[in-house]
Amino acid sequence: MTLSLLKSLADSTRLRLVAILFRGEFTVQELTEILDMGQSRVSRHLKLLLDEKILSVRRQGTWSYYRACKENPLFVEIWPVLDATLAMEAFPREDLGAMAAIYEKRRRKSQDFFNHHASEWDGLSHRLLPTTPYAEQLFDRILPCQNLVEVGVGTGNLLPSLVFLAQTVVGVDQSPAMLAQARQRISLDGPCHIELRLGEMSHLPVLSASADLVLVNMVLHHAANPGKAFKEFARILKDEGKVVIADLLPHQYEWARESLADLWLGFERGDLESWLDEAGLFLADYRTIHGTADRQGVFILEAIKRCTEQITK
Ligand SMILES: C[S@@+](CC[C@H](N)C(=O)[O-])C[C@H]1O[C@@H](n2cnc3c(N)ncnc32)[C@H](O)[C@@H]1O
Repeated sequence: MTLSLLKSLADSTRLRLVAILFRGEFTVQELTEILDMGQSRVSRHLKLLLDEKILSVRRQGTWSYYRACKENPLFVEIWPVLDATLAMEAFPREDLGAMAAIYEKRRRKSQDFFNHHASEWDGLSHRLLPTTPYAEQLFDRILPCQNLVEVGVGTGNLLPSLVFLAQTVVGVDQSPAMLAQARQRISLDGPCHIELRLGEMSHLPVLSASADLVLVNMVLHHAANPGKAFKEFARILKDEGKVVIADLLPHQYEWARESLADLWLGFERGDLESWLDEAGLFLADYRTIHGTADRQGVFILEAIKRCTEQITK
C-alpha cells in the first residue's frame, strides 16, 4: 500500500493535480484548461489517484468535481510536507493563475446572468425553480442585532423585513443591475440605516469583525469557490457572531445551470460542515424543509464564529 501510494505520487503531473485539488475542486474539463493537457491524459492520472484514495469525486448531477480526499491516512500524513516543498520548489505559479481564471469564469457566468435578467428576476425564479416555503423558519433564525450583512442581496426581497431586525443593514451583491432593483425597493428614511454595496462574496467590501449577523439566502449555489466564501463570512463576523445560510438541498435539475446560472445543484450537509470547520465556524443548527413534486427542498443552517482566543489556543 505504501509503495503504491508513493508510486502514484512519483509523477510531476500527478503532483500538480494533487496540489491543485488540495486547493479547490474542479471538473475534468476545468483541469484540462488548468494543466493545458488533453482530457484522456488528465482522466488517466485522475483514475490512478482515485484508486489510491488520494482524490475523491463529488457528483453534481451528471458533472463530477474532483478534490483531495482525507481517507488515505498515509497521504494525509505526508501531503503537508510534500505540499510545502512543492510550494517552495516546483508548484507552478501558472497553475495558481489558471485556477484563478477558472474561478473568474464561474463568477462571470453568474454575474452576466443576473445583470441580464435583473428586471424579470423575481418572477423568473418563482416560475423556474420554486422552493418549498421556508421564510418563516428563516426569520426565526434572525434575532434583532446591531449590524447585519446580507450577502447576495439581489433585488432586495428580504430587506423590508430585515430593516426591523437590525440597526444597520448592508446588502452586498456582485450585479449592478440587481442592486439597482434593490435600490428602487428601499426607502431611505425607513426604520434602519441601509447601505447597498457592489461586491463579491469571496472579497466582501465589509470591515473584518464588524457584523453581528451574516445572511446568505439562495446565493451559495452561485459561489465560484464556496469554501473561500465561508472564510469571508467568518472574516467579517464579530467573535460569536452568526451566519445564517439558506440554500437548496441536492437536486438533479441539470437545466438550472443554463436557465438560472446555478453553479451547484444543491449541497450535502457534510460539505457544508467541512467548509464551516475550515472557516473557524461551528454548526449551531441545521434543518431541512423537504420539497414536494413541484417544489425544491431547502436547508437552513446557523453557524457561530469561534472566538479568536479559542482558535489561537
Ligand atoms: C437567487 S438571488 C438571491 C437574492 C436574495 N438573497 C433573495 O433572497 O432574494 C442570488 C443573488 O446572488 C448574487 N450573487 C451571485 N454570485 C455572487 C457573488 N459571487 N458575490 C455576490 N453576489 C452574488 C446574484 O447577483 C443575485 O443577486
